[in-house]
Amino acid sequence: MSVFHDAERRLWLLRTPHSSYALRLDDGDCPRAVHWGAPLTLEQAAEIVAPAPRDISSFHGGPSDPELPAQTGASFGPASLQVRFADGAGGVEWRFDGHEIDGGHLRLRLADRHYPLAITLHYRVREDSDVIERWTELSHTGQGEPIEVQRCDSASWSPPRGTRLSHVVGAWSAENQLVREELPVGETVLTSRRGATSHQANPWLMLDDGTATEEQGEVWSAALAWSGSWRITVQRTPFDGVVFTGGAGHEGLRTHLGPGETWTSPVFSGLYGTAGFGGVSHAWHAHVLEHVLPHPQELRPIVYNSWEATWFDVNVDGQLALAKLAASAGAELFVLDDGWFGARVNDWAGLGDWTVNRDRFPQGLGQLIEGVHAYGMRFGLWVEPEMVNPDSDLYRAHPDWVIHMPNRTRTTMRNQLVLNFGRPDVAAWAHEWLDRLVSEHEIDFLKWDFNRSFTEGGWPDSGDPDRLWDAHVRNLYALLDRLRADHPHLRIEGCSGGGGRVDLGMLARVDEVWTSDNTDAVDRVSIQHGFTQVYPVRAMAAWVTDSPNPLTRRLVPLRFRFHVAMAGVLALGGNLTRWSQEELAEAADLVAQYRLIRPVVQHGVVHRLTPPDAPVVGVQYSLGEQVVVFAYRVNTRFGHAPWPLRLRGLDPEARYRDDDTGAEHSGAVLLAHGLPLDRLPRGDYASLVVRLTRM
Ligand code: GLA
Repeated sequence: MSVFHDAERRLWLLRTPHSSYALRLDDGDCPRAVHWGAPLTLEQAAEIVAPAPRDISSFHGGPSDPELPAQTGASFGPASLQVRFADGAGGVEWRFDGHEIDGGHLRLRLADRHYPLAITLHYRVREDSDVIERWTELSHTGQGEPIEVQRCDSASWSPPRGTRLSHVVGAWSAENQLVREELPVGETVLTSRRGATSHQANPWLMLDDGTATEEQGEVWSAALAWSGSWRITVQRTPFDGVVFTGGAGHEGLRTHLGPGETWTSPVFSGLYGTAGFGGVSHAWHAHVLEHVLPHPQELRPIVYNSWEATWFDVNVDGQLALAKLAASAGAELFVLDDGWFGARVNDWAGLGDWTVNRDRFPQGLGQLIEGVHAYGMRFGLWVEPEMVNPDSDLYRAHPDWVIHMPNRTRTTMRNQLVLNFGRPDVAAWAHEWLDRLVSEHEIDFLKWDFNRSFTEGGWPDSGDPDRLWDAHVRNLYALLDRLRADHPHLRIEGCSGGGGRVDLGMLARVDEVWTSDNTDAVDRVSIQHGFTQVYPVRAMAAWVTDSPNPLTRRLVPLRFRFHVAMAGVLALGGNLTRWSQEELAEAADLVAQYRLIRPVVQHGVVHRLTPPDAPVVGVQYSLGEQVVVFAYRVNTRFGHAPWPLRLRGLDPEARYRDDDTGAEHSGAVLLAHGLPLDRLPRGDYASLVVRLTRM
């Protein structure tokens, strides 16, 4: 049993394998947080039920933090729920209407005492995960006027400590840059107002008291499963109280809940751990593999993607030439990227016209697909269903299908506009052509792109224009779910100009994500470090491309480029027709090495052994008896020999043999002293992969 109830004290306790969460109703029926942290019994949690009053003066807030602060009573922190009724009243006066416990799922049914608003708080725990899922359901239970909803977060969380905040920031080509800094007193908002998750921020956070390390210490973390605009507000008081609330949408949006309507928030999951940031990452990875990704047991294939080889200049002969080289290098799935359809010969035209360009593919896609199959690879195709170029037949026919506002310029970004997937006709159109495309061709894989943010976020004539922000994402999810259900063999790579739409909502519907448009191996080290804080390596696509890198112009040896990409879901993305015979042979050799370590990298436990800017960066993967260690030195300094890399998670009693050299190490020495890096070459861009097997 994982959910416990003390009826007399109106207290609930949720247990996970290594944590617990307790909440209770106060005298006014308002649900309030009691405990989030170490495992407690119901009896123990009951001791915390009546905390010493904190409201020592009339200017303080209430005694403990509401589960969903709703702008009523003496509650002055960031509100999770902001509603407005037709008569101008706002907030919620709570009334408890009962609860249900169904396995690990607790439903607390609450309602407003006066207005026809029902609020159900959902909690779900599982026996094999420390993640506590929370979400909120709002229902208009009356007749008459709609209720205006200004904010409805999934949950508010109240960790007992949290004066340091970890999160990621970034930009296009610079996703997932980890920031770990003192949380300022006041309110800190992490958000995206872009209609998508964003490159700039990602909807997760970790809080600790400033003492946690990669391996030790208490960490409270949370991640939101939503791929549209989002907002997490963290409040720290001068006396080190911390609460945070998060959910879909951004400030200023207003939607209306009509009579009989129910709106369900996305899931905002929390996770507490005592084994530092690394431990929390492991728990998130295990959870995503077990409960989020659609086919977690699979090994991701080695993709070849031709984008950086040909850009928009695609045709059947050129792609077949690349396919042949890709197959001999060991690729298992060939992806034709942008430029295969309509008048899409550059990014100015044709987006939205999803018919094969017959100048480029005179016999349709079939010829390329057959060729790819003949080389022993599966076939994948790039699509960007949510977008349109103004210069397209689709836009000429349906200028009203895009997200727009009356009397406002339709801002283009990358010369494109966003289709309003909130509209059922637009969503149905997209389903129709995608379903036909996948049915008529042997397509095993779609790379699903999304290359700009929302602007002029309106939906004229809908009566409720801000619904767009929610409805677009829900219809996107429904479309992905339906395509997957109807085409069970189909695998999907999520992409948004690189990693602009990576979150637990997307990871439930795609098999991997394109991590960044930046394929420079040096930059990737920090991008991958940030990615793995919450998301598993199993979903982190990483291509080896050309040198100099097309974006950064950096010259990086093939081996270093491979070794960085081999720490994720390895793929190839360079112009192989320009690679020398030696480079192609070296590539084939490294791909073969990756095959040996792929299960460990994709399914193992990842240990980030150093920060991403260490003189020698180390990353370790462990699965069963196998251990794989990557070491990277970008710049050599002073010609000093590298320090040994201390490994983690090994058995100190066991011995480990190096699969390549036969050298033996004792686990205790590898843990305490480290793995000697004498095989790391001298000079810049030096890298090494060490494979160890427990003896
Ligand atoms: C985005 C993707 C790239 C590529 C291009 C095609 O930028 O991230 O990988 O698919 O679009 O236009």
